Formats: sequence, C-alpha cells, structure tokens
Amino acid sequence: MDIKVDCSKAFVDTSLLKEKAEECMEILWKGEYPYTGWVSYPLGITDKESELSLLIERIKSVASVIQNKCRLFIVIGIGGSYLGARAAYEALGKREGYPELLFAGNNLSTTYHKEILSQLYEKDTCICVISKSGTTTESSIAFSILKEALIEKYGENEAYKRIFAVTDEDEGILLGECKLKGYTRFSIPKDIGGRYSVLTPVGLLPLAVSGFHIEELLLGAYECAISPLWDSNLTDYAITRKLLWDKGKKIEIFESYEPSFMCFSEWLKQLFGESEGKEGKGLFPASLSFTADLHSMGQYLQEGNQIFFETIMDLKSAKDDIWVNEEGSPFHGKTMNEVNRAAVSGVMNAHEKVGVPQVKIDIPFMEERILGQLFYFFMMTCGISGLMLSVNPFDQPGVEAYKEEMRKNLKG
Ligand code: PA5
Repeated sequence: MDIKVDCSKAFVDTSLLKEKAEECMEILWKGEYPYTGWVSYPLGITDKESELSLLIERIKSVASVIQNKCRLFIVIGIGGSYLGARAAYEALGKREGYPELLFAGNNLSTTYHKEILSQLYEKDTCICVISKSGTTTESSIAFSILKEALIEKYGENEAYKRIFAVTDEDEGILLGECKLKGYTRFSIPKDIGGRYSVLTPVGLLPLAVSGFHIEELLLGAYECAISPLWDSNLTDYAITRKLLWDKGKKIEIFESYEPSFMCFSEWLKQLFGESEGKEGKGLFPASLSFTADLHSMGQYLQEGNQIFFETIMDLKSAKDDIWVNEEGSPFHGKTMNEVNRAAVSGVMNAHEKVGVPQVKIDIPFMEERILGQLFYFFMMTCGISGLMLSVNPFDQPGVEAYKEEMRKNLKG
C-alpha cells in the first residue's frame, strides 16, 4: 500500500474498539448488509477472464469510440452519479489529447446550463447520462435539454449514437429509453448504491474517455482490499472517528493543500454525510482547501469552538516542481512544494498546540492506482464507521423529504 494513515495525533486509544471495528469489517465482507457489493467488487481485476476485467475491456473499447467522435464529453448526473468521476478527473488532472469533461445536471442553474449548451454547439460533443433511478430531477431535466440540442446539431440518428447511458441493469425509465433509442449503455450493479459506485461504470466510463487508466484505479482498490496489514489502518481511522465522536467532536474537516482535491472532498462529504447522518447521529463532514482557507478559517481552527477534528490529505510530491530563482527572495533556492510542505507541518504543529485532534493520510504522489486506494480506503472506513455508530451506512431515507416538497411546488 502506498497511502499511509497516521492517527497518532488524534490522541485516542484505538485499541479500545479494535474488536468491534474488526467485527464490523467482517460484516461488510460477508455481504450481510444490502448494498455492500462494492466491498468485493475490485477483486476480479487480477483475473483477465473475470466479469470485471471483461467489463473494463468493454468500457475501454466504447471510450475509444467516443474519443474518436468528440472533443467534449458532457457527463450528466448528480450525487453518487457525479462526484466520484469529477473528483478523480480533477485530482488526476486533465490529460492532453483526450476529450474534455464537463459536468451537467448537478444543479438547476439556468446560467450554468446555458454555458454547457454553448460549449455543446461549439465543440464536437457526446453526452453521457448517469442515473441509477432514471428519475432524478436535476439529471432528467439536463438530459432533456442537452439531448434536444444534440438532435438539433446532429440530427436524430447521429445524436442517438452520441448518447451514452449508465443506469440500473433491469428497471427504470432511462433503461426503457436506452432500449427504445438504442443508446450504448452500461449497468450500475444492483447491490452498489450511488455514493459507493465510483469504481463501477458510473466513474469508469467518463474517466476512460478522458484518458485515464481505469484498470489501475481498480488495482489500487484491490490492493487496499486485500492487504492484511492494511486492516489496522482501516480500522484505526474508523475507531478514531468513533472515539472522537464519543468525546463530543461534532465535525470532521477534510483538508488538503491541493486545490485539485476540492472535489475529492465533496465526494467525501457525500460519502460520510449520507452514510452516517441519521437518527440524530453522525459527524458533520466539512472541507477546507489550504492554504487559501487558512487566511479565512485559520482563525477559527486555532481559537474557535473546538467541536471539530481534522483529517488531512497530505499529497507529498508535486509533478513538476517550481523553483524560486529570484535573488533576494526569502524563498530563493526553494521549490513551491517545499514551502507547501512547510505549511503542512507548521499548521499541524500550531493546531496540536491547542489540542486539535488530527488524522493524516499520507499520499506519496498522485496517479490512478493511488487514487483507487484512496477511494476504497474511505468507502471501507465509512462502512465500518457507520456500523460502529449503529446506523445503516447504505441507505438515505432522509433525502426523500425535500423531493416531496419540491414535487408539491411543481404541481402547484
Ligand atoms: O448516493 C446516492 O444514492 C445519491 O447521491 C444518488 O446517487 C443521487 O441522488 C443520484 O441518483 P440517481 O443515480 O438515481 O440519479
């Protein structure tokens, strides 16, 4: 395993809940809960004949068709059908020579979608609609609008060849439309819920189109899943979260020193917020992007209400570092990343002095395999954390309430 987890600065005794955490992990591996298909999902990646490897081959071959057809690939989806792909796309950085990804249907803003439409008219475009239910308001409305524009631009026959879909394997309105119109389609496994689906076609298709090595993502997840030594890293983090919750901490702040990680933090917020926030329980997942937010929220972290702890995603190296050559500069002879490193340890020391508990995830460098490890690490620790909190980490009964109210407004 390349990523490392250091809970020593959280100042809790992780041996206290070791057994409980291991029990929870076992439950996840046994598949005793519905929607735990993601746990063993990456295991097939080392076998060329496995269902997973065959699926990867199919995704890659469809991706190459898409790459030959367009320069812009608009990915429509929201929540679990959106955040993972965008998190990976931004963390890994756009690959030159491959279609650019734009994301639609993740809000209801007219201004936002007007801009997407103008890009669609300007560039050679394919679109991909991702929705397990097929009925989500944001993605449905964006799909209708973009499909209409695609038909206007290319004519019906060609437009349908430029529409790709990822949806439930055997039910839903979107599946029906795919069959009727002949869109190329991929399935979301029945036993994997939205926020745990990034390593299925939901995340893999957009990432393959934009030139990423999707099998490496799965390989990273596989490494995390099978490494026995790794178990203690998984359970330690989950235990630390639980013990800090028991001690009265209410907020977990995900922090990184790389703006390219901002969407990864959004993915984490959904993962933990939707999995644990029920029955009046659950740490509130927040995120900050440093060093920018140190100049706004730094004050609160140092001296404000200490109801939070920090989980720092610490990317150690920069791809192409930049040297400061200017004579007389206080940073002369240093690289930008060296200064960033000094910020990480400086902030940690300052916060330690006032007793802020800190967990650090060391990420040696960024590439698909490492990102796969991270995705799996956080999904597994989230599952364990939810079970330790005695909630079901795989449902989301609370999200229906606002939808009901919104539907009433639309009828009126
Ligand atoms: O995690 C979840 O279940 C949600 O975030 C869903 O992914 C999101 O609401 C989108 O749902 P759908 O894929 O059915 O359009």
